[in-house]
This record gives sequence, C-alpha cells and structure tokens, in this order.
Amino acid sequence: MKDGKEGRMSKSGTGGIRTAKSGAAPGTSGARAAADGPRLRAEDLTLCYDQRTVATGLGVEIPDDSFTVIIGPNACGKSTLLKALARMLRPQRGQVYLDGAAIASYRSREVARRLGLLPQSSTAPGGITVGDLVARGRYPHQRLLKQWSAEDEAAVVEAMEQTGVRELADRPVDDLSGGQRQRVWLSMVLAQQTPLLLLDEPTTFLDIAHQVEVLDLCAGLHARRGHTVVAVLHDLNQACRYASHLIVMRAGGVIAAEGDPASVMTAELVEDVFGLPCRIIEDPETGTPLMVPAAPKYHAPQSGQPGRPQAAPGTPSTAAVLAETP
Ligand SMILES: Nc1ncnc2c1ncn2[C@@H]1O[C@H](COP(=O)(O)OP(=O)(O)OP(=O)(O)O)[C@@H](O)[C@H]1O
Ligand SMILES: [Mg+2]
Repeated sequence: MKDGKEGRMSKSGTGGIRTAKSGAAPGTSGARAAADGPRLRAEDLTLCYDQRTVATGLGVEIPDDSFTVIIGPNACGKSTLLKALARMLRPQRGQVYLDGAAIASYRSREVARRLGLLPQSSTAPGGITVGDLVARGRYPHQRLLKQWSAEDEAAVVEAMEQTGVRELADRPVDDLSGGQRQRVWLSMVLAQQTPLLLLDEPTTFLDIAHQVEVLDLCAGLHARRGHTVVAVLHDLNQACRYASHLIVMRAGGVIAAEGDPASVMTAELVEDVFGLPCRIIEDPETGTPLMVPAAPKYHAPQSGQPGRPQAAPGTPSTAAVLAETP
C-alpha cells in the first residue's frame, strides 16, 4: 500500500462508503424517538422500489451487542431491509431509528461513523488499488484540515490484515478473483470502524475455509470488541452456528420467526419458509441446530447398485444417520 498521507479520499468513484444523503443533525429534526430500546430498530416499514412493494408493516429490532443473522429465501427482502436499516433506501412509510433518533435526521457522515454496510454487490472505480479502496472506509473520519492521519493508516492496515488482503494492497481491484474482491470490500467496511456492521452475504464467492474465517472474524468483532453485527447468510447451518439472534424472513418481507437459533430453527419452519423438507439434528461440533435436507430423489451412481449410493465400509450414510435421529 502506498503512503496515504496525501489525502486518499480525494478520488471520486462508485466504490465509496455507502451512506445516504445528508440530513440534519439528530435532534434538529422533529422525528425523534424515545432514547430507550436497541441502537438500531425499525418500525412499521413499507419498503418499495418504484411500483414494487417489497414489505409492509415490517418492524425489526437488532439486539445490542448481538451477532444477528438474517436468513430467508431469494427475493424475500433481506437486502432491501438491510438497505433501509443503513439509510440506503428511504421507507415509503415507517421509520428506522439509530441510537434513539430517526436515522433520516442524521448527517450522512454521522451515520457512517456509527454504521457500516457491506452491500450484496458493489462496483469499484476502474483501476483503483486494494489499498486505496480500503482507505475509502476512512472517509467518515476525515476532517477538512487533517485529511489522513496515522490512525487512518493503522485502521486500514488492520482491516486488510483481518481479511487477509494486505499482500494485495497494490493490486488493482479489477484484477482480483471474486473471493479476493469480496474480502477487500469487507476490509473497507471494517476500516470504517463502526460499532454497527451490516453485512449482506459477506461469505459470497468465498471458499469454505475463507467463509469460516470471515464468520469467525465477525464473531470475534462481536464477542471481543462488542460490535453489533447483522449478516445476511444463505447457509442455515452457519447461521445457527454463529447467530446469537436469528431472524427468519419469508416471501413478502415478513418476519416468520426470530430469536435464539436453537428455539427458532425447526424442520417445520424450514419447510414452511423455504419449501424444503429436512431434519434438524444436533451439530456434532457446536451443539447448534444442523439442517439436513431430505435425501435427493436421484442419487449419483457410486459404488454398488447403479443410481443408489453405497457408503464406504464403516461409514454410515446420511440416510442411516437420519434414520437413527429421533
Ligand atoms: N433496485 C431494485 N429495483 C426494483 N426491484 C428491486 C430492486 N432491488 C430488489 N428488487 C426486488 O425487490 C425484491 C426483494 O429483493 P431483495 O434484493 O431485497 O431480496 P433478497 O431477499 O435480498 O434476495 P437474495 O437472497 O436473492 O439476495 C425482489 O423481488 C427484487 O426483485
Ligand atoms: Mg439479497
């Protein structure tokens, strides 16, 4: 990474910090809520894109200091909810509250100091290097007279180390693999150093080892540094392993269930929300719920009879494990 003292944030592009338009400082608007309740919550949201209504009457509370995971089928409105919580989408009705004040009443820089969003997809400005993109995460901390500080540099280096992209610092983002790029975007959000992190599918494009690494990193931010993390995930078993609070959304932007994964994750719920018959067993590593889909109709031929799998000697097949599960 190059020395960033000459004002990294001067470059323009589409990959900057995701914040919404400026508003008045909290307190200057009439739209204040009671200061109690969690730091981030939403009431009675109607969320729309032009003529398409994604959710109505949607209320959500993100427990403070939680690792909240949102799961739900494609197109049910998870990303839309995250965008509304981060003030990237203005609700047609209802209100998002951040630290007791309507989020719409904050200046954009102030929102960005408190809350970072990793969108589901982002486009980096052409030719930008990894180091420069991650440095954009420091935008909310810049001051007019002091553009780039040692603190900014340290935050950028730490964020790149946390996501394992420091050695890529001088590479153009365009040249990276999908997984490398995803970790760079995550790094940018981490460099923002916000107490609230909203991550839309942070494990997309990552191989399984990097998925676990990123989720462990998020869990560490939550457990050791007291960050409140909200992540959208598609892997229900990872969701159950990592979530302290699980929110299950169903089609139409409706919250079907929420709470502790052990009480929320049932076979009935998975079938109801995802239309997938399954069993829930205990994860042998963590004791959390482990969702095992019902056996596929057609098995790939392995050894033994054509079209029917045969386990290696001494290895119980999934079907056998399921059959023994009460
Ligand atoms: N920019 C947009 N303009 C119009 N419609 C949109 C836009 N973004 C999303 N939608 C629609 O809103 C609905 C909810 O989309 P959203 O992206 O929130 O789903 P999601 O739950 O995040 O799905 P996925 O798991 O596929 O990411 C979908 O029907 C989608 O087609
Ligand atoms: Mg999405």
